[in-house]
Amino acid sequence: MRSPLAERAHHLSTNSVEPRTGLNETLRRDSRLCCLGRPASTILSSVAHSLDTRYTMPETQLDVRALDKAEAYRTLRTQFDALCEGVTDEIALMSTMACVLQLGFGHLWTGFYRRVGAAKLIVGPFQGTIGCLEIEFGKGVCGTAAAHKETLIVPDVNAFPGHIACDARSRSEIVVPVLDRGGELIAVLDIDSERLAAFDEVDRRELESWVRWFAKVT
Ligand code: SME
Repeated sequence: MRSPLAERAHHLSTNSVEPRTGLNETLRRDSRLCCLGRPASTILSSVAHSLDTRYTMPETQLDVRALDKAEAYRTLRTQFDALCEGVTDEIALMSTMACVLQLGFGHLWTGFYRRVGAAKLIVGPFQGTIGCLEIEFGKGVCGTAAAHKETLIVPDVNAFPGHIACDARSRSEIVVPVLDRGGELIAVLDIDSERLAAFDEVDRRELESWVRWFAKVT
């Protein structure tokens, strides 16, 4: 059974009528894709094929940057759920979540800081450039989000007092607290982008639902 998104992409790739859907519009707008010199329908059918779960091994790397954000998260979530079905190991879940999100969106840094002791965060599984190793509660974006158990969206890291710059290319950031079944903070999920204001309410909503995985298994 094709996923709804694969169904839409398939519909787009086989119909001459140019329906007004996000995927097609994105492809038309996104010159990077158009400059591949291949007609949109060819690109669409290859997108359809790559998103069609009948053909996609869960391990397939999905690049969803051509999709609108909510659709991109839905596509990656289908993959993550397929990969992690029945998995309860925290490090395995953190590693796979960081990898699926990083490969999907291509951000500068995607990873976790795990709580160790009362008020310290230690870098955990991550993808991207070197991350700072330790952060105290209340310090930086990660430490502040941890101390308040609150998601922080930072449109411009240089405007955030006390921001900790692990990589000078980072321009915006989102940090989401990860809670266990009892509501205790066990980690934060941190994502850095080289673009200003890369994160919004869609990211908050989606990422908060992703980290709820941990409340199910811890
Ligand atoms: N910028 C974070 C530190 C971690 S790096 O972004 C990976 C902060 O201010 O807490």
